[in-house]
Amino acid sequence: MEIIIEEAKNNDKIPMKLLLLADPSEELINKYLHKGIKLIAKDHDIIIGVLVLLRLRPETMEIINIAVVQEYQNKGIGRNLIIKAKEKARQENVKTLEIGTGNPGAIQMLLYQKCGFRIVGVEFDYFRNRYKEKIIENGIECRDMIRMKMDL
Ligand code: ACO
Repeated sequence: MEIIIEEAKNNDKIPMKLLLLADPSEELINKYLHKGIKLIAKDHDIIIGVLVLLRLRPETMEIINIAVVQEYQNKGIGRNLIIKAKEKARQENVKTLEIGTGNPGAIQMLLYQKCGFRIVGVEFDYFRNRYKEKIIENGIECRDMIRMKMDL
């Protein structure tokens, strides 16, 4: 398996189904997708992973969406997407990288901490206040947003 991670080009069509793995709202995805830097993981010419970097402030970016196709998960692709995102953010003179995950996201939190993120706070009822439908993950309601940051 040879996976290439690169910045998406204009003609790369990122599958909505993939982005929806990380964020259940197509409406919200469409609001940020065109503003972000898109990194993609490809197996030959098929996009099997994505990471969207969004500038929040002049020296701060957020990884707002990261997703890997299920059959390719737990093979290091997510970690490599984050490594590439850190490189890209540094090139963009970013000093702080942020990421957030829902309270049921134990695996995500492990991965992000292994990549250098630390928990900096909790936004209580973030998901209840923004998403029309209740989100259930790993058998519990995805209600609060765990906020994480790292200095670059
Ligand atoms: N079980 C246990 N630990 C796991 C698992 C698993 N199934 N998958 C990943 N991990 C942990 C391990 O700690 C692993 O570290 P290790 O290699 O030292 O054991 C670490 O994560 C690295 O995993 P990767 O293989 O690099 O991660 P992967 O390629 O699977 O991508 C991702 C992770 C993006 C979270 C993927 O699982 C996914 O797409 N999930 C569904 C969508 C999602 O939840 N996205 C994040 C939402 S939050 C946001 O978008 C900002």
